[in-house]
Amino acid sequence: MESIPLTICVVGASGHLARTKILPALFALYCQGHLPERFCIVGYARSALSDLEFRERVSQHLTCRYTPAQSCEDLMQKFLERCSYCCGQYDRPDDFAALKERVEGLHAGVAGHLLVYLAIPPQVFPLAAKAMGTAGIACDGQDGRWTRLVIEKPFGRDRESSDQLTREIGEEFSETQTFRIDHYLGKEVIQNLLVLRFANLIFEPIWNRHYIKSVEITWKEDLTIEGRGGYFDNTGIIRDVMQNHLLQILALVSMEAPARLEADHIQNAKVNALLCVPPPTMDDVVIAQYGASRNGDRDIPGYRDDASVASDSVTPTYAAVALRVDNQRWDGVPFLMRAGKGLDGRMTEIRIRFREIPGATFDHEETPPAPNELVIRVQPDAAIYFNIMNKVPGLGMKLEPRMLDLQYDLAFSEAIPDAYEDLLLDVIRGDKSLFIRSDELAAAWDIFTPMLQEIDTRHLSPETYEFGARGPEASDQLAAGHGVTWE
Ligand code: BG6
Repeated sequence: MESIPLTICVVGASGHLARTKILPALFALYCQGHLPERFCIVGYARSALSDLEFRERVSQHLTCRYTPAQSCEDLMQKFLERCSYCCGQYDRPDDFAALKERVEGLHAGVAGHLLVYLAIPPQVFPLAAKAMGTAGIACDGQDGRWTRLVIEKPFGRDRESSDQLTREIGEEFSETQTFRIDHYLGKEVIQNLLVLRFANLIFEPIWNRHYIKSVEITWKEDLTIEGRGGYFDNTGIIRDVMQNHLLQILALVSMEAPARLEADHIQNAKVNALLCVPPPTMDDVVIAQYGASRNGDRDIPGYRDDASVASDSVTPTYAAVALRVDNQRWDGVPFLMRAGKGLDGRMTEIRIRFREIPGATFDHEETPPAPNELVIRVQPDAAIYFNIMNKVPGLGMKLEPRMLDLQYDLAFSEAIPDAYEDLLLDVIRGDKSLFIRSDELAAAWDIFTPMLQEIDTRHLSPETYEFGARGPEASDQLAAGHGVTWE
């Protein structure tokens, strides 16, 4: 039997996300033989482009990570031949009807599977979904032919607007058809969290309040906002990174073991964990914004100095939040999160601090044992390391911590795929394990909505930190209040 053809339609194909992430990820999947034999890609956007012009733009971002240079040239040509372009507005059913006709024409009149990736601003999602519905694109076809919709955050600004978005899209695309991306879930190290926790017997018995003192999740970037203020100034760091990427990490660290590695089991476990997190109060949060600084003889502008940001903006570029997971496993264990732009480096890591060892065995030694720490570094240089105490070689008894260190680049010869490669392949396979279900999204908003509303309505002024610093002092105090010193 002939395989059902697949069309991947990237709506917003001339935008940054499409050009730098989605299309290169599709090429990487093609190079590794993961796309079906009969597939084609259609770019859809408002600008008038010919197929050739579109291919030219696509080609600028394709890389040869998986294939030797010669065969890569060849594969690139073949891939580009499968790419075509269709010009249309995002809210016009007629334009989508023309797209539908074009798609059917590409497969000699055979209707196949259709994956629609909305790489357009989220405000336009409902209009585009409606127009696709009217054009007859949104429903699954016959004989097992599916239509799937991929969307990416921000999903609203709070619980209410997120629910509304879910409802509006849901009028055209069912929950089963809708794939909500959080690209952090596609990252290799984040995917490894489930394996690390549940495929290693040693962790589960100590993964609780009796052995773990605190969990810290740190996310930092060392860049200025650089013209992205149009989006960011209306969003802020909590909505941009915490409510989604970092909360997903918290859910994976704190959840119970899923019965099986299947989407529903994993999502149920994550939702149950999120439902145990009470919304933080204003005492549990520090917000801050980076100001100008000087690097040698170079002046670095502050956040408000950026042309794309309001000069009196109070949007936080940094936040630290202390959360709790109020259940039997985690009662009393602080989950501290911090995220910031314009800091002293780029890094995402999870640090699990264990409790002090009980008893008096080492009380009289010069250096008492330091508590163990398990650190999972997501980026850069993916790694997992575990600080354990050792006797320093030599005469006498001197104790010092050293690392059991698993560095991905040394431990694995395989290339680490870009998060979008994994996620797109899962959409094609219909595996929703790494996607956000609507009740999970609602639970995530319930945690942050009260605090965000208070920050917004009281127009709270953020603290200031210098660009390139480690963050505001108040963040250290917040952590100290929970017995933690940030690394
Ligand atoms: C995005 C945020 O979701 O993630 C950006 O909107 C942020 O502000 C980006 O820079 C970080 O992603 P990554 O994969 O580079 O860590």
